[in-house]
This record gives sequence, structure tokens and C-alpha cells, in this order.
Amino acid sequence: MDDLKAKYLSLIAAAGDEAQIEDLRIAALGKKGEISAAMRELGKMTPEERQTAGPALNALKDEINSALAAKKAALGDAALDARLRGEWLDVTLPSRPRRQGTIHPISQVTEEVTAIFADMGFAVAEGPQIDTDWYNFDALNIPGHHPARAEMDTFYMHRAQGDNRPPHVLRTHTSPVQIRHMEKFGAPCRIIAPGRVYRADYDQTHTPMFNQVEGLAIDKDISMANLKWVLEEFFAAFFEVDGIKTRFRASHFPFTEPSAEVDIQCSWVDGQLKIGEGDGWLEVLGSGMVHPHVLQSAGVDPAQWQGFAFGMGIDRIAMLKYGIPDLRAFFDSDLRWLRHYGFASLDVPTLHGGLSR
Ligand code: PHE
Repeated sequence: MDDLKAKYLSLIAAAGDEAQIEDLRIAALGKKGEISAAMRELGKMTPEERQTAGPALNALKDEINSALAAKKAALGDAALDARLRGEWLDVTLPSRPRRQGTIHPISQVTEEVTAIFADMGFAVAEGPQIDTDWYNFDALNIPGHHPARAEMDTFYMHRAQGDNRPPHVLRTHTSPVQIRHMEKFGAPCRIIAPGRVYRADYDQTHTPMFNQVEGLAIDKDISMANLKWVLEEFFAAFFEVDGIKTRFRASHFPFTEPSAEVDIQCSWVDGQLKIGEGDGWLEVLGSGMVHPHVLQSAGVDPAQWQGFAFGMGIDRIAMLKYGIPDLRAFFDSDLRWLRHYGFASLDVPTLHGGLSR
């Protein structure tokens, strides 16, 4: 009996899985098992022998049974531990935003522009992308017959049949935000208004939807000199070139008088464009002193108030700063392009942190 006990306890201890445990149970306690056979021997014994052998065999049977059960439970626990180790996941690992998705260059540049103008005291204003032709044209001193309406390749919305009011338009520029802002908040004011604008035009440098940022500063004594300073500060910060030169060319917009188109200094070396050096020029925006009719349309008294406005292409300055050759690619949603030109989502542009990546 001691031999049987020693044999089975060591076999159970060495068992590696539940199937081996079951085999051992059958070998010891099954119908033809060794302990069952020993139990059958009890019948051949004398009553005296049986009195000591019976309880001892029963005790052995119980001991083997509980050793089998304990080993089975231990093997189950070990299997669970192994599975948990295999499925282990460190939730404290940082995420990898560069791989997850990127900030579109337009969003990034809009943030950069906003940070620079905020530093000069400009707030951000917004207006609707679908607007009335009054805000988009009339209030900006562009009357119905004016050629600028045709020049802008305006998208017109449909009116219901029998509705004879003039149709809404997709705004062709961010200038209507000048009117909406002054109507609501009056003068003085100092705002930029970034956003989407629409014109029916499509080639390497034109898309039917693109982005502009409007600037507007109105006070008692704002002049072209202030405009020039603000823009030069902006370009130096944005392109990260101190003392970048600008060129103001006399121009015409119905909503400014006088008006100027502004170029920034650049050079072409071996087909490579460099901003802020050399003696070439690139046109980047339209600007001027806000026309008295515009102030009047927005309910601001032109006898008391004056100021400047400008409108700049966000896509265009994004292309120049980050060397993006084709405007159309901005809006293709090509993942390879987005991964290449996109920005890390946690890199919020600030002046103190350096604007670009
Ligand atoms: N709205 C003009 C454009 O889209 C730009 C502009 C804005 C010019 C403000 C002067 C003043 O071309």
C-alpha cells in the first residue's frame, strides 16, 4: 500500500496536463485500476486482516482522489496565468500620434496664422460659407452690374420656384466677415477671419474651394503704415525670416481705397524657391484702406473711423512655407500625401514654441 501511495503521488506531481491526470485516475481508481484491484483482495482476507487493511485502503483511495483534484486545479490556474501573461497589455504606453493620423497643413497653417495675429491683438471672427449676395458683394461696394461679380466665378444657390429674392452665394472671399463683424460689434476692432471660400475655377493653382484669411483693423487713426508693419511682422514670424522684404503694388479692389497687392521677397536657386532672400517677388495678398462705403454698410461712421483690411490665401502661404507643389493635392485626401505633409496632432503651434515642427 505504501508503494502504491508513493508511486501515484509522484506520478500525479509530475503530470503536465489534465489528460494525464485522467489517465492516472483510471490507472489507480478505475474499474481495472490498481487500488480497485487491491480493494477486491479484501474479500479473500481474514476478518482480522480486513479490519486493518479496509480503512487503510479507503484512506489511500481518498488521498489519491484529493491529490488528483488538487493537481487538476493547479494545472487550471497555471493555464489561466499563462493566458493572462500572453494577453498582457501595457495601457500606460504613450500613443503614437504620428502613425494614427495627422493634422492637415491647412489646419496647421491656420493655427500658425492665428497664433501670430493673436500676439498682435487680433481676435478670430467667423462668418457663414453660404451668404447673401448683399454681404458678399453689395455691402462691400460691389454693385449688381460690377464686373467683379463675373470675375469671381461665383457659385449661386438655387431658390425655390416662384421665390424671386436674389439667390444665396457660396462666399467668394472672406471679406463679408468684415461687414458681419462690424455690424455686430462696431468700431474699434481688430480681427482676422480664416475660412473656406469658393470660386468656379480648377487648375494647378486653383481649386473650387480654397482658404483665405481676412484681416481688419479699425480705429481713429489706423493708416497704411500700420498695415505695412503688421504684414511685415506677420511674414517675418510666419516664414521665420527676420527682416523679410515686402513690396506694395498699387491695385484696385472695390472695398478698399487706396488698394495694394503685396508681394514678398524670394529667390529661385536651382529650381528651389527660397522665401525672404534674393530679388524675386511673389504675390501673396490683396489689401488696402477700408472704403467709406463699406464702413457705412456695416453701420460704422466713416467720418470717425478708418482702418485697413487684407485678404490672404492660406493654401498659398502653406504651399510656399512647406514646399507643397500642387494646390489640388490639399483636397485629394490621399493618405500617403497626408502622412507626408501632415503634422503631429500634439504639436500645437505657438510663437514661444517655434511655429513649425
Ligand atoms: N477679398 C479680396 C480677394 O478675395 C482680398 C482683399 C481683402 C483685398 C481685403 C483687399 C482687402 O481677392
